[in-house]
Amino acid sequence: QRSVHLHPSILSADFSRLGEEIARIPSADAVHVDVMDNHFVPNLTLGLPVVEAIRRATSLPLDIHLMISDADRWAPGYAEAGAESVTFHAEASGAPIRLARELRARGAQAGMALKPATALEPYLDMLTELDMLLLMTVEPGFGGQAFLEVVLPKIRRARQAADDAGVPVAVQVDGGISAQTITAAAEAGADVFVAGSAVYGADDPDAALIALRDQAAA
Ligand code: DX5
Ligand code: ZN
Repeated sequence: QRSVHLHPSILSADFSRLGEEIARIPSADAVHVDVMDNHFVPNLTLGLPVVEAIRRATSLPLDIHLMISDADRWAPGYAEAGAESVTFHAEASGAPIRLARELRARGAQAGMALKPATALEPYLDMLTELDMLLLMTVEPGFGGQAFLEVVLPKIRRARQAADDAGVPVAVQVDGGISAQTITAAAEAGADVFVAGSAVYGADDPDAALIALRDQAAA
């Protein structure tokens, strides 16, 4: 069995009772927190004060996905807040290598995300600077969108490049992950899976995430 991780996205949870919603997913490998600024993406969610409150409300690791402009300025604060990983978008950083190093220096794993149409190849040389590469499988901004199969070859190329170079970088997929799509993403080489609506849309979110993880590992 491959080692796979399932990170439920609380974007699909009830924001008025986040602590209780996170308590419904005790088997999660981490809690995926989507930070949006109404500028990098056309949606607005939450920021550092809420992340700090979530940090106090759960002992699960926090996987912070920053969909915000000017990531170089804002991302380090999320590492300071005690996130296990902080993922910024390559499209929103002027100095991604420097930022990844700064995140690691502040004790977080460094993640970098690419939108579906952003090419992988310009970033292959910096995989050693990253703990996680997030390949978006929807346009970032909203939960509940359909998985973009067009990204599957990019997942394959990322996994191949990391394996060829012997770089232990995780390949995360986010967007449209469900029982219908997770096997294709896993077969392409993803090993960290974000799921929002497929977890929180279920009657039993913990059972749903366990079933998805088992399916990805099969
Ligand atoms: C979208 C977010 C995702 C979102 C995924 O921009 O980055 O994390 O919550 O939601 P689903 O799993 O419903 O596609
Ligand atoms: Zn996300």
